[in-house]
Amino acid sequence: MKSSFISIRNLPSCKNFARNKSKFVLIVIFASALLMFGITSYYFLLLFSPNLSSLPSAEELVKDLIFTKGVSAQNDPIVVNYLINHHLISPNFGTDYNLTNILNPQQLDINVQSALRHVFGGRIPENGFFVECGANDGEFLSNTIQLEMELGWTGLLIEGSPSLVKSLTNTNRKAWVADVCLSGEKPIQVDFLRHANTFPPWSGGAGKIKERKTTTQTGNGIEKATPTNSYGTDLFTSEGVVECFPLYAILSAINVSRVDLLSLDVEGHEYQILKAVPFHSVDIKVIFVEYFLAPEGEQGIKTLLAENGFKLWAKTGSDMVFVNKQTDYVSP
Ligand SMILES: *[C@@H]1O[C@H](CO)[C@@H](O)[C@H](O)[C@H]1NC(C)=O
Ligand SMILES: *[C@@H]1O[C@H](CO)[C@@H](O)[C@H](O)[C@H]1NC(C)=O
Repeated sequence: MKSSFISIRNLPSCKNFARNKSKFVLIVIFASALLMFGITSYYFLLLFSPNLSSLPSAEELVKDLIFTKGVSAQNDPIVVNYLINHHLISPNFGTDYNLTNILNPQQLDINVQSALRHVFGGRIPENGFFVECGANDGEFLSNTIQLEMELGWTGLLIEGSPSLVKSLTNTNRKAWVADVCLSGEKPIQVDFLRHANTFPPWSGGAGKIKERKTTTQTGNGIEKATPTNSYGTDLFTSEGVVECFPLYAILSAINVSRVDLLSLDVEGHEYQILKAVPFHSVDIKVIFVEYFLAPEGEQGIKTLLAENGFKLWAKTGSDMVFVNKQTDYVSP
């Protein structure tokens, strides 16, 4: 339909008002309709337009990719950058230690000492690299502080409990700190539970994690390895959501491919964590692992590590020490 009445040329003037009365009425109706349309559209847009502030931020998209959609490799650059930007604190070389017992650091387990001497030809070398998970407060029952203070080692301290990480960073350890927990092959988010008792002293450091269930996390994640320990769940208090990553992702983020001592004490998830380690890409010499809470048991861990070139060096009621067969020192 040709709408000639909207053209400027045909607008009515006061002089010919009577003659163009019907045209004028049409214009008024049209203008009112236009106004109504405008007002309606305005409120419609207000009601149904996408709310800009509720659009996901770049940060949320990255998290969605890492924890829900999934990335292609453990050391995917997206994960590595995320770790660098959110979870890694560099070694505190410039500041003095802030320790409760600076004169007598916790002694390294005697079996680990002998394993290190074995692997390195009779004496524990200086300037080695350790990884300790969970690192607790960095001092109490630490498996690495003596190496750091007496032999100049550095390393990576991994602790998932937010409250313990605070104490850990207060110590000014000369090692990287990662405020995360370790996962299997895929990064996951968990509820971090910490033992509510403070006695016996070690129980204060006993944490455990509970998988946050989402429909996509059905792979080899940690949720299948729920620890079956003797503490009642009611004795645990939640410390909130903690993010877990494969060990290899964290090592990639700090460019480390050689680990002289890996100490793993994570209340039941040891097997899943070790299973995800690409041993052909990381050269690990000695592994100190707590096995008694792992559902896969002593035999499961032994078999897994044997398949990856490790032999059992020593065993106690709760821990095993493995040495990498390829680095065995052959005495003359
Ligand atoms: C040393 O550590 C304690 C315990 O974590 C903390 O309260 C204190 O603020 C720390 N001191 C310094 C100088 O960082
Ligand atoms: C790791 O290596 C990359 C590439 O060489 C470098 O840009 C980055 O700073 C290194 N990161 C650390 C923690 O040394």
